[in-house]
Amino acid sequence: MGRVLVTRQLPPGGCDPLLAAGHEVVRRDNDDPYTTEELVELVPGFDGLVCLLTDRIDAAVLRAGAGGRLRVVANVAVGFDNIDTVTAADLAIAIRNTPDVLSGTTADLAFLLILGAARLASEAESELRSGRWTGWSLTHNLGVDVHGALLGLLGYGRIGREVARRATGFGMEVLHHSRHDTGLPGYVPTMDELLRSVDILSIHVPLTDATHHLIGARELSLMKSTAVVVNTARGPVIDESALIRALHAGTIFAAGLDVYENEPHVRADLIAAPRTMLLPHIGSATSRTRLRMARLACQGVCDVLGAPDHQSG
Ligand code: GLV
Repeated sequence: MGRVLVTRQLPPGGCDPLLAAGHEVVRRDNDDPYTTEELVELVPGFDGLVCLLTDRIDAAVLRAGAGGRLRVVANVAVGFDNIDTVTAADLAIAIRNTPDVLSGTTADLAFLLILGAARLASEAESELRSGRWTGWSLTHNLGVDVHGALLGLLGYGRIGREVARRATGFGMEVLHHSRHDTGLPGYVPTMDELLRSVDILSIHVPLTDATHHLIGARELSLMKSTAVVVNTARGPVIDESALIRALHAGTIFAAGLDVYENEPHVRADLIAAPRTMLLPHIGSATSRTRLRMARLACQGVCDVLGAPDHQSG
């Protein structure tokens, strides 16, 4: 059986697949992330690594692992832009992630941001909490309608499709654009066309070199001034400076963000920008989903290390 390093705290029961398969599991006592130097030192002694999206599994870590016995890295996340996949492939180190199990939960959160940003919920709530609410007014805290709006999905994978399913209940028209023609109703061949037409844009593309700052000043300028931008994918897909300028200029109505360019640092000028709803990367954060993610990642390690299957709950 193998030795597996788990870099952070998993929910209770999260490591069950590894334990049931008889692997030796090494966990830290606290939830502090390892530094790259610590990982470089540790990984050669392990067959598998279970990590989080906050761990940078770069070439140095992977080379150190391959110099030892490392065969698999499993990210407890669907996105794995924190892992140098090219180097991993060169070194024949398998990468596993946690698709499917978080799609519904993340789509719920995207919808929360769609509703919250469109209706200026955060601004209105902070007005109330800080004692600045002076009473019901016909002309204050006016948002835009979500029902009947045209929703544009940038990226149409599992999460984007779950958002689309929710949107139909709100009577929204849904269009989508992705790099490859999905052949599905609502496909728009160019991103610019999508941006020009939508009332609400929800982003569901992975972070790659091609999607870094995919939404910048030019793209935002194509959108309606009443449009709402929502991002539950990865922060660097949006150029935050351009978004902040657009919000101040009023060329974009509102933004709902769960992800940021330099997490966990969130720019002070983004926090201060008008008409935003900002959440701290909690897209998949429900107890049930986080347990399923942890078990799926651990099962991924078992699969590569050749252990028997374990049913995840
Ligand atoms: C969260 O952002 C994930 O990729 O699972």
